Amino acid sequence: MARVLFSAGIPKAGLNRLESAGFELVPFSSPSGPGSLAAQAADADAVLCLLTDRIDEAVLAAGSGRLRVVANIAVGVDNIDLESARRHGVVVCNTPNVLDETTADLTWALILMACRQTPAAEISLRAGRWSGWRIDGYLGRDVHGAVLGLVGWGGIAKAVARRAAGFGMSVLHHARTPSGAPGYVADLEDLLASADIVSLHVPLTTETRHLIDARRLRLMKPTAVLVNTARGPVVDEDALSDALEANQLFAAGLDVYDGEPAVNPRLLAAPRAVLLPHVGSATVETRTAMAVAAADAIVRVLRGDPSLDRAARAQA
Ligand code: GLV
Repeated sequence: MARVLFSAGIPKAGLNRLESAGFELVPFSSPSGPGSLAAQAADADAVLCLLTDRIDEAVLAAGSGRLRVVANIAVGVDNIDLESARRHGVVVCNTPNVLDETTADLTWALILMACRQTPAAEISLRAGRWSGWRIDGYLGRDVHGAVLGLVGWGGIAKAVARRAAGFGMSVLHHARTPSGAPGYVADLEDLLASADIVSLHVPLTTETRHLIDARRLRLMKPTAVLVNTARGPVVDEDALSDALEANQLFAAGLDVYDGEPAVNPRLLAAPRAVLLPHVGSATVETRTAMAVAAADAIVRVLRGDPSLDRAARAQA
């Protein structure tokens, strides 16, 4: 009987999918302590994991060929050593598509909160500091009619773009390869200089680490807003803190952090930074759909199903 290791807290619907396929389910604790997952992985055929689990060489090599698939309940796979997986012949699956709309909704929440500075206004009201309507009270920046610049053009970026139509916005996007879609900007720096709101939708790779650094932040308008629902290290957080402190950028809306769950203290103190705790895909419906999609990928790989959707495989 195939053995599947699963991370604690995975929605039951995902586990049910594996159980009804007749697999043996073995829990591991998440986040996994050093060595513990590797020790358990030695006699596993599959691992169903979360983005907080580090799937490194030790885990991937543990079974000396028994481990066939790692399915990550996330679209990002930067917690998995893809190169090592390739070397050990382990298929890596993720959960694209099922979270696009939910993450786009959250991106819009951050766009609106950061542009209109609603968290600060609410905190002020709750603290009894609201002294009444003022012509210059709690001023933000308009969202409707603004230029939205999307960095990346995957499913989430496209879902964010669709919502922008309702706000009468012009939408630009940048991707490494020309998208052929209207609004494509070949040069990231041109997009940064033209957009009123920049939203990041790229995976974390060696190329995208600190993609938004001090120099690129300086290209943005002082009235602009930066939103990051992708991965924290895509932005140089100290440079972003400098930009907010120097009023070189109007605001930032962040859902992801370098080294999370720790949050850079400079970001916590930065003016006009709206900070959420990595909740982009956090709805009951979407987290359930993600767990089922990842479990389904395991079933298909272990059954040798040749129809395994290429889109569910995170590596080439
Ligand atoms: C969440 O951040 C994901 O990658 O799914």
